[in-house]
Amino acid sequence: MKRRYAEITGWGMYVPERVVPNDTFVTMGLDTSDEWISSRTGIERRRVVEADEATSDMATKAALKAMGVAGLHSGDIDLIVVATCTPDHVMPATASIVQDRLGMLNAGAMDLNAACSGFVYALATGAAQVESGRARNVLVIGADELSVYLNWQDRSTCVLFGDGAGAVVLSQAKEPGIMGSTMGSDGSGAGLLTIAGASRPRAGNNGRHPNGSANGHEDGANGSAAAADSYLTMNGPQIFRWATQIMPRAAEQVMAASGLKPDDISLFIPHQANNRIMEASAKRLGLPAEKVFSNVREYGNTSAASIPIALCEALSAKRVEVGDYLVLSSFGAGLTWAALALRWSVPVPSHVAPWQPIRRQVESRMAAVRSVLRRGERSVRTQIDKTLGKGED
Ligand code: ACO
Repeated sequence: MKRRYAEITGWGMYVPERVVPNDTFVTMGLDTSDEWISSRTGIERRRVVEADEATSDMATKAALKAMGVAGLHSGDIDLIVVATCTPDHVMPATASIVQDRLGMLNAGAMDLNAACSGFVYALATGAAQVESGRARNVLVIGADELSVYLNWQDRSTCVLFGDGAGAVVLSQAKEPGIMGSTMGSDGSGAGLLTIAGASRPRAGNNGRHPNGSANGHEDGANGSAAAADSYLTMNGPQIFRWATQIMPRAAEQVMAASGLKPDDISLFIPHQANNRIMEASAKRLGLPAEKVFSNVREYGNTSAASIPIALCEALSAKRVEVGDYLVLSSFGAGLTWAALALRWSVPVPSHVAPWQPIRRQVESRMAAVRSVLRRGERSVRTQIDKTLGKGED
């Protein structure tokens, strides 16, 4: 049987409009400085969502751009995977909300949570679906808004993160695009980076649930949803030490499995958490600075969105050409890690055809109308069934 391959044919990113420069934290009264943040992390600013902007909103905007580049119709997508650790709701999946907004009526939809490693996990999962022939085209999105879970009084965490989304479309190919991938996890480090608030509340918080445990949300420090017991907590130094080892190790593994040597790599796109982690990883891999992509200065750590946003910006900056070998490598809460090697195989368009955004607008308006009609139909059917006494024994 002929082997199938997967390649990236579309890409797009979205970041919120609100820019928060490092100095804002000083203005807020935190004992920090632009100098400390930029010299220890490389971060100078980040983007933060408005109160009414959810993860699905950012994911949908990035996905629309990716679909425009791929030139596909909504009906061509068989599966949507949204990598996120900050979904709109515990359920339904954020992917289902995106599916409805984009009118992707033939698509399965699921969320994947591997924290900051989520996008590479999702890309490997989507590629396997395409390579096996189970899907023709898969929409893979990395989207997170960790700002909602930050304690804006905790200088050791709130300065590090930002919000955003990035998306790619994976399609069937005649030659290998996605070459190899590796995924890993070490749950013994699960307590090093956490956001509580699901079925296991954080120990020591105030009981509000009838069984004595805690849940419920109060206004967070930024006026958003997070209650004090669901703030992000992190052991920064331990994560730092581990990340400088695991990120290059994962990249080495995937390069070896794909038959690639450091000289073959045109661009290394690591998870954008801290410039010092990226530099240490590149050094271990024997890659010169010009082969490492970093935009952490602009966006901070956008979790599952960091690698697809970096990929989009690398493409816009013409740092990627057809035939280039790229390595993506990530680490995150879990602990989790993942790396993926790919050969870039589609020309990067200098511009998107002017009718593409119009087509996307029309398609998403139609999707919105269809969604309203489906909801209306469902409620009319329920009324009719009630009136006719159906569904009762
Ligand atoms: N401003 C000023 N001082 C600060 C700040 C701040 N924003 N934050 C911490 N400090 C202080 C600390 O309190 C400490 O003071 P002390 O010595 O008096 O106790 C001092 O600076 C040094 O603190 P360290 O934590 O040792 O600083 P370090 O050089 O390790 O940098 C950092 C801290 C940036 C958090 C680093 O450890 C790091 O990047 N870790 C990795 C974090 C990461 O990547 N997390 C994301 C994982 S991906 C995901 O799944 C979401």
